Amino acid sequence: MEGQQTPEILDYRNANGHGWSYYKHDGLLRPIFTTPENDMEMIRKVQKLELRDDDMMIAAYPKCGTHWLWEIVNMLRAGNTEYNKKSKEMAMLGAPKSERADELPSPRILNSHLYFRLLPEKMVEKKIKTIFIMRNPKDVSVSYYCMINGMKTSFRFDGTYSEYLNLFFEGKIPGGAYADYVKDWLQVKQDNPDLPVLTLFYENLKKDPVRNIKTVADFIGVSVSDELCEQIAEACSFKKLRTADTDLKEHVVTAPENWKEGHKGIFRKGEIGDWKNWITVAENERFDDVIDRTFEGTGIVFTFE
Ligand code: A3P
Repeated sequence: MEGQQTPEILDYRNANGHGWSYYKHDGLLRPIFTTPENDMEMIRKVQKLELRDDDMMIAAYPKCGTHWLWEIVNMLRAGNTEYNKKSKEMAMLGAPKSERADELPSPRILNSHLYFRLLPEKMVEKKIKTIFIMRNPKDVSVSYYCMINGMKTSFRFDGTYSEYLNLFFEGKIPGGAYADYVKDWLQVKQDNPDLPVLTLFYENLKKDPVRNIKTVADFIGVSVSDELCEQIAEACSFKKLRTADTDLKEHVVTAPENWKEGHKGIFRKGEIGDWKNWITVAENERFDDVIDRTFEGTGIVFTFE
């Protein structure tokens, strides 16, 4: 990128060298998986992506249930319970293959972990229906760790969960601090009343999938019978999705060969409260303190079990 200054590289690693390098872009810490220039180019392409009137967006911090929700929305829009053979990464803005978003047939269910300001510029103008899903931070931290510890790619983190937790608390992980991402979306909603945003919680989807699926259907404007909602809930249950993912998907990032031996991939456990198997009493106290401090004023009440 001609004329552009090489950005400062920030190395956030623990004593054992586990962690990532970052650069700053538009006030955000961006992980460097290839070069900052490549990352900026990727962001530029995403921001310039031509949106279609029937596009939808799922926005989430990593590990909040994006794959699950993506599958549900696909089925609602198709009006049946057939699994989409494509993997959601094909429509994931900010993923290595997201340039293919242009080639996807309509209706596209775009999805992303990028901050709103890095998403396509026409989101508000086009009134793109957006679903924002959150999950309790403790389960997010465990799920995220299991993913980055399990993958063989540049994303990989070989340290322990405790080592990773320090980086998670400081927001020095790809995606930045969870609370910052959530607060940014709350602000986006407030600043852009024309942008239709539905907010969901992973835990509610887990506890009452049929009611939440109906809520999504109403939001995206498809009329569905209670029976179809029940069938979609069943087809998108953890076990069924996990099987479909292994047997049917044209994989991009999450293919089995990209994971270390013994790791379960994206569809790992699918439960509320698995954090109890990972977090020590001391870490939990610290976690509660971090959550109280960083989510203060948001009004968000997470469900932890
Ligand atoms: P765990 O690692 O806790 O199992 P994302 O899609 O945003 O990457 O989130 C992945 C998390 O959602 C994983 O959590 C995964 O198991 C969980 N998940 C996926 N499908 C699910 C389902 N049908 N029911 C419950 N959890 C599901």
